[in-house]
Amino acid sequence: MTSKPSRRKETVKCVTCGRDFETTVWIRHDGTELPPDTLCQECQQEKRRREEIERCKKELEEVRELQRDRWYEEYGVSGMFIEKTFDNFKHELQPKAFNAVKGFKDHSLVLLSPGAYGVGKTHLVCALANHLVATEETAGFRPGSYAIIRHRCPVHFTTEQKLLARIRQTYNRRDIDDGETEEDVYNALAKFPLLIIDDVGKVRPRDYSFLQGVYFRIIDDRYVNEDKIILTTNLDFRELEEHIGGASADRLREMCGKNGFIKMTGKSYRHGQG
Ligand SMILES: Nc1ncnc2c1ncn2[C@@H]1O[C@H](COP(=O)(O)OP(=O)(O)OP(=O)(O)O)[C@@H](O)[C@H]1O
Ligand SMILES: [Mg+2]
Ligand SMILES: [Zn+2]
Repeated sequence: MTSKPSRRKETVKCVTCGRDFETTVWIRHDGTELPPDTLCQECQQEKRRREEIERCKKELEEVRELQRDRWYEEYGVSGMFIEKTFDNFKHELQPKAFNAVKGFKDHSLVLLSPGAYGVGKTHLVCALANHLVATEETAGFRPGSYAIIRHRCPVHFTTEQKLLARIRQTYNRRDIDDGETEEDVYNALAKFPLLIIDDVGKVRPRDYSFLQGVYFRIIDDRYVNEDKIILTTNLDFRELEEHIGGASADRLREMCGKNGFIKMTGKSYRHGQG
């Protein structure tokens, strides 16, 4: 027997809004009844809408965590510098650099310590990268909707040496379809709102035209897109200009403004502290 169960209409009070509404009571073959709806149609819709929003919020939380993990994989800080923070930096030793890096916002920065090593340049820039990657919002809802948008990793830290090696690597590839091209490297770097290049000029390059071409491409991309860059170097400004090239240095001057070049002096923290 497959005859349909019978039903009857009944007026009930909505448990949420208290309004009377008409609903269908379904009657089984054995005569017992299924419980009627307790919510009117509007309240049911509202409940479904809320559940959907809750689901979206939960999904956003999951995406945010995954995105944070991704950021940690791509932001470039490694080894002991993962532990460097503004809190574990003795700011009284380098108050100007500390304030400039901690307050980093509107303009690019160059930390110069000509001839001075171990004064905390790498510590400070890694503290900033660690802070940004831990605190910036990784994903959110598109305004006016519940569509999730993932935000870009806010910062990428590298050294001049690593950067040049990464680009040279693209010339050595045998298989054209495999691995990143030089253009891929520039495009990948351009996606980060802040790029930090540590140890500019630490190693004397064999090929200045290659090095200056790389700097020009990177700095000009950031100049045009109004993205920020932070460089650290043991060179003075004149030497830096010779190293990266005049065209890059000229753009950098504008990007940093008059307060963006921070000179750091002092003894190396590596020996003899405490
Ligand atoms: N003011 C400071 N407070 C706490 N630790 C510091 C401070 N300055 C430097 N250090 C520590 O001393 C070590 C050397 O500092 P860091 O590597 O940042 O110097 P640097 O200026 O980058 O040196 P180099 O020019 O050789 O690259 C690091 O372990 C760093 O955490
Ligand atoms: Mg350093
Ligand atoms: Zn209702």
